[in-house]
Amino acid sequence: MVRFENVGLRYGNGPEVLRDLSFELAPGSFHFLTGPTGAGKSSLLKLLYLSERPSRGLITLFGEPLSKVPREQLPDMRRRIGVVFQDFRLLDHMSVFDNVALPLRIAGQGEKHTREAVSELLEWVGLADKLDALPPTLSGGQKQLVAIARAVITSPQLIIADEPTGNIDRDMSMKIMRLFIELNKQGTTCIVATHDWPLIDKIKRPMLELFEGKLAEASWWLKPDETLEDPA
Ligand SMILES: Nc1ncnc2c1ncn2[C@@H]1O[C@H](COP(=O)(O)OP(=O)(O)OP(=O)(O)O)[C@@H](O)[C@H]1O
Ligand SMILES: [Mg+2]
Repeated sequence: MVRFENVGLRYGNGPEVLRDLSFELAPGSFHFLTGPTGAGKSSLLKLLYLSERPSRGLITLFGEPLSKVPREQLPDMRRRIGVVFQDFRLLDHMSVFDNVALPLRIAGQGEKHTREAVSELLEWVGLADKLDALPPTLSGGQKQLVAIARAVITSPQLIIADEPTGNIDRDMSMKIMRLFIELNKQGTTCIVATHDWPLIDKIKRPMLELFEGKLAEASWWLKPDETLEDPA
């Protein structure tokens, strides 16, 4: 699904903020990405959702080396990826409903299906009474839930979530993680950046750990052959 080989990233002429990254995300896998503030988690995810290009090394996504993918094909590739941005990136002039419906409408889904799917998902995350609200009128946690709903509404092949539970309470965090796990069971590959150790501890999935732009050697929370239990 994803392969990084000796990937490095620098912004402009600055220092390398990511160095020598080599790892693989198998199709259908679930990884946490962790590491201290400024370690490079969001930068790594930007490479994954094609918002930055590596300054060196090779990234293969959906079996294609990114350096060989023509620019005009990148939007097609992006549509196979659901992203929860650390800063949400909701469209402030559009209602909650329209924000979440947008990816379905772009994908050319019919309006009836869109209405049903969006209403059902927003109800599930507890925002049934906010369908017509504009994002600036929501709390931080409510914005985060809208951003999560928008990322998963199209059932993407790859979900990239940057601290998706940073602003929501414990019960809702677990509910969101269960949603990711359920999508993962249906075959979606997931990578979730988080500092939330109790959550990582509870869910027990393999972990990539960044320190100052490099991956730590021991990147597994569990050995790959240990049984993964469902969160209680
Ligand atoms: N657009 C940018 N231009 C220049 N430098 C940047 C840019 N974005 C990030 N950086 C630098 O890259 C490094 C890694 O930042 P990044 O946002 O990837 O860290 P992070 O691990 O996601 O941190 P946090 O836990 O705070 O979200 C930092 O030193 C940061 O200053
Ligand atoms: Mg970050």
